[in-house]
Amino acid sequence: LLATTIILAPLSANAADKTVGFSQIGSESGWRAAETTVTKQQAEARGVTLKFADAQQKQENQIKAIRGFVAQGVDAILLAPVVATGWDEVLEEAKEAEIPVILLDRTVDAEKSLYMTAVTSDLVHEGEVAGKWLKDEVAGKDCNIVELQGTTGSSPAIDRKKGFEQGIAGADNLKIVRSQTGDFTRAQGKVVMESFLKAEGAENICALYAHNDDMAVGAIQAIKEAGAKPGTDILIVSIDSVPDIHLAMDAGEANATVELTPNMAGPAFDALEAYWKDGTLPAKWVQTESKLYTLKDDNKAIYESKKSLGY
Ligand code: AHR
Repeated sequence: LLATTIILAPLSANAADKTVGFSQIGSESGWRAAETTVTKQQAEARGVTLKFADAQQKQENQIKAIRGFVAQGVDAILLAPVVATGWDEVLEEAKEAEIPVILLDRTVDAEKSLYMTAVTSDLVHEGEVAGKWLKDEVAGKDCNIVELQGTTGSSPAIDRKKGFEQGIAGADNLKIVRSQTGDFTRAQGKVVMESFLKAEGAENICALYAHNDDMAVGAIQAIKEAGAKPGTDILIVSIDSVPDIHLAMDAGEANATVELTPNMAGPAFDALEAYWKDGTLPAKWVQTESKLYTLKDDNKAIYESKKSLGY
């Protein structure tokens, strides 16, 4: 029978003896690639053996990878869940095998007892920060917004949409006229922005809200090809703070981004090390910071410093 609290594998203080499985979503964005790099660096620095599985955007591959990690008897599992639902069964299996699971960067709709902790930003807050920024920026002028959503069914797509709507709530001058998924990729961001431009006309779009920077970068290309000026004719606000968006901001082609750290693994390994040392369990949510960058910041310098962080 499953216990209601997590009772996990025998304790041994030394992280260097440990093997951790990491089920990563894929490499849809620059941010995702950076998270993978940082996770590998964090494991290496702590002497943890990391087993890495790239799910190529498919939940079924993630479920297979987790089952594989359980069969191998790893000491812990890191999971960046592609979508929010459908995890209960496999998380029960890990729990039954007494293997702690830590969620990275996205949340799941499952019982909290099925995972040790979730290291994520406040995804609703990120959207809200973006919405409030836009509301202040347009200062009462009428503004038609187009929205590029992240992967359908993923917690950042759901929460960033909700947060943005909260951020612009009460401003009758702001209206979301089109909203569609661009799957968090640059290529889809461009394709979907092209369709928005075609449907609305560039002159009728005042702002783009993209759930990540990669889609915004793809959309910037589409806007330029349509003969309009991104950052001026169409304001651009997005999330992640990857180097390329700062380069675009430095060129005046994007306006604001909300930072998401790619270092989710650091706090996750800290929690595991504390647990392995003396059984300390972390809080159910380890929240990372969300910082807004705008054209007021030194975007060239930010670009350069981010480039050295594994992006
Ligand atoms: O879950 C975090 C999101 O996933 C990032 O914002 C996005 O770039 C990534 O693909």
